[in-house]
Amino acid sequence: MKVGVLGAGTMGAGIAQVAAQSGHRVVLVDVNKDAIESAKEKLRKIIERLIEKGKWTDEYGNGVYGRIKFSTEMQDFEGSGMIIEAIVENIEVKHAVFSKLESIVDEKCILASNTSSLSIAAIGSILKNPSRVIGIHFFNPAPLMPLVEIIPAVQTSESVTKEARSIIDSWEKVTVLAKDTPGFIVNRVARPFYGEALRIYEEGIADFATIDWAMTALGGFRMGPFTLMDYIGNDINYTVTESVFKAFYYDPRYKPSFTQKRHSEAGYLGRKSGRGYFDYSENAVALSP
Ligand code: NAI
Repeated sequence: MKVGVLGAGTMGAGIAQVAAQSGHRVVLVDVNKDAIESAKEKLRKIIERLIEKGKWTDEYGNGVYGRIKFSTEMQDFEGSGMIIEAIVENIEVKHAVFSKLESIVDEKCILASNTSSLSIAAIGSILKNPSRVIGIHFFNPAPLMPLVEIIPAVQTSESVTKEARSIIDSWEKVTVLAKDTPGFIVNRVARPFYGEALRIYEEGIADFATIDWAMTALGGFRMGPFTLMDYIGNDINYTVTESVFKAFYYDPRYKPSFTQKRHSEAGYLGRKSGRGYFDYSENAVALSP
């Protein structure tokens, strides 16, 4: 089966890799030519490293790379059995692309979104056949994180849910069915982790590095909240919080933070921009609590 992935950013490139590793022909599409070039380069480097380390053979690595077509044309999705959308977390933009996708693929193609927080029912509402919409939510980095949430909307047919889940299971992921509610399971649990860390900082209790150190060295977490937000991208993380906050009728438990908003507005997006709460540039000075 041919798999389409729309959006070649943090998530899309990794999802395309996972699908290609499972033997699918993959088309990875992004409107931005630079994003496509950078995804191509990044994947080439990842594969080279895995071959160098002896984890992959040349043949397997070249096979994975060769199965992915990098493109800026959505028309290349023609003939796909499933498309996973991983573009900006914005319902209007997602509506525009889902509408277009439906005009390119045939009736049987599953149309999935990797959204972290938007309603799958709302995304599907734009489709002529909304029974084929589904949420397939990977975690970052997609090739390494085993869990994937499968989120049927009220319009999704049982056969689409079953098929989507069995495809993702066959990609050696661990799937969990989640209800179509804001943040699904993991992102909802994670909101207070980020939110309280930002509030602790804003109340002057501790700085970013100290909070992260406490959570990793003492709390047993693999990553502190600020390192994790920098990893995810502050723009995406902020937008997801704002969307969950609104979707829960402005429940203060999910209130977004000005600190994160300002970091995002300043372009301090995290690792991907070289600076977030921490500095990732070459001359960065290591911070300690
Ligand atoms: P990103 O900002 O890294 O990448 C988005 C890509 O979509 C960009 O390359 C952009 O050029 C492209 N794009 C924007 N509009 C487009 C359009 N109309 N057509 C084609 N391409 C378009 O975003 P990221 O982080 O990969 O997030 C994508 C989706 O995945 C969002 O819905 C987000 O909520 C979700 N997600 C993000 C996670 C993360 O840790 N960053 C984790 C799980 C889900």
